[in-house]
Amino acid sequence: MSTSSRAQVGIVGAGPAGLLLSHLLALRGIDSIVVENRSRAYCEARQRAGLLEAGTVELLRAVGLGKRLDAEGLEHGGIYLQFAGERHHLDFRDLTGGRWVTIYAQTEIVKDLIQARLAAGARLEFEVSGTEVAGLDEDRPVLRYTDAAGTRHEVRCDVIAGCDGFHGICRDSMPPGLVQAAERGYPYSWLGILATVPPSTDELIYSRHEDGFALHTMRTPQVSRLYLQVSADEDIERWPDDRIWAELRHRLEIPGWELRDGPITEKAILPMRSFVASPMRYRRLFLAGDAAHIVPPTGAKGLNLAIADVTVLAEALTGLLRDGDPGLADAYADASLRRVWRATHFSWWMTSMLHVDPGPDRFGAELQLAQLRYVVASRAAATTLAENYTGYYPLRRP
Ligand code: FAD
Ligand code: DHB
Repeated sequence: MSTSSRAQVGIVGAGPAGLLLSHLLALRGIDSIVVENRSRAYCEARQRAGLLEAGTVELLRAVGLGKRLDAEGLEHGGIYLQFAGERHHLDFRDLTGGRWVTIYAQTEIVKDLIQARLAAGARLEFEVSGTEVAGLDEDRPVLRYTDAAGTRHEVRCDVIAGCDGFHGICRDSMPPGLVQAAERGYPYSWLGILATVPPSTDELIYSRHEDGFALHTMRTPQVSRLYLQVSADEDIERWPDDRIWAELRHRLEIPGWELRDGPITEKAILPMRSFVASPMRYRRLFLAGDAAHIVPPTGAKGLNLAIADVTVLAEALTGLLRDGDPGLADAYADASLRRVWRATHFSWWMTSMLHVDPGPDRFGAELQLAQLRYVVASRAAATTLAENYTGYYPLRRP
C-alpha cells in the first residue's frame, strides 16, 4: 500500500536539528513532516553532547523551550585548564563581558522538542525505513519513506531539509560531483562515561596530561560525565571500570583535589573527525547540522552548530515559502559556513592543544605547553578561547 500527501517542508532526521527546525517553522505558520529511522525511545536516550553556548540557551528560551532548561540546566561562568600538574581557572564572564555556558544534556533537549512537537500535533514519524529524496530538479521535490506499519508514503514538498546526521542519505542525494568535502582525521578517540556520582568539580576541567587528555564534565548535580583520550582503534572491552577510574585519577588529580568515583552506567568510544561539506544547498534541498559538518568534540561545538544552522534556515525558509523572498535562502549556505569554519578552527585548535599525539614528539609537546601557558597568562589569548567557547557569531534571536 502507498499514500501521497503534501507538506511545505519535508525534514529527514529527528535529532536536535530536525526537531528544532520543525518547531521554528511551526511558530511561523509553516507546516512540516519529520521522518526518523530510529525509535522515539532510542532518540531520547542516545548519549551525546551536553554543553550549550549562551546564544543557544537564549534561542531555546525565546522559542518556548526554556522551562526545564532553566529549572535543571547548570550555568557555568568558566572552565579549568590543567597542564604540567597545575590547574588554572578561566573566568568567561570577566573575559567576555558576561557570557556563560550551560550544561543541559542533548537527550533532554530532544525530549523537550519531541514533547513540544507532539503536543502541537506535528507530523513526526519514528521507525521509518527506506527514506529517499527525489525530484530535486523539480519545483516540488519528494520525500519517500516506509512507516513502522509497512505503508510506503510519498510526500510532495516545497523544500526538503536534510537534518539526518553524518551517516544520513541527504548529502549523498545531491548531484554527483557537487559536494566538496574538507576533512581532517585525528590519531586518537575519546572514551566517554556517564557515572552516578556527584561531580568532583564546580566547573569543567580540561586536562592535558603527558599520558593523554582527560575531561571532567557533568550532567546533573548527581551525574558526572568524563572523557579520556584513547588510541584511535581502541577496544572498549580493554577498559573495565576500575581501569577507567584509575586512568581518570592519573590524568586529572592534583595535590589537594580528588576525583570521586561511582557506578558507570554507560561507556562508549567516540571517534574524532573534522568534516565540512559545501555547498549546504542544492536548489530545494538544504543540509543542516551533522549532515553537513562534524567537529571533534573538544570545545563542544557540534550541537551548538546544528542549532545555529536551523535557526538561520528557519528564517530563510520563511522568506522563501511565506514571503516569496529567496534572499535569505540564497545566503543560507555561505552564512552558515562562515560560522561552521570558525567553530571548526576552534575545535581543531582545542583538540590539537590538549591531546597527546601517539609516538614521541618533543617539538609538538613543547608547542602545546607554550600555547597553554600563553592562554592562561595573556588576557588577549584567554579572551580568544572564552569568546569562541561561549559562542562566536552570537545567534540573532528570532
Ligand atoms: P543527529 O543528532 O545525528 O540527528 C540525525 C538524525 O537523523 C538521527 O536521529 C538519525 O537517526 C536520523 N537519520 C539518519 N539517517 C536517516 C534516514 N535515512 N532516514 C531518517 N532518519 C535518519 N557534540 C558536542 O558538542 N559535545 C559532545 O560531547 C558530543 N558527543 C557526541 C558523541 C557522539 C557519539 C556523537 C555521534 C556526537 C557527539 N556530539 C557531541 C555531536 C552532537 O551530538 C551532534 O553535533 C548533534 O547531534 C547534531 O545534531 P543533528 O540533529 O545535526 O544530527
Ligand atoms: C562536554 C563535551 C565536550 O566535548 C566538551 O568540550 C564539554 C562538555 C559534555 O559532554 O558535557
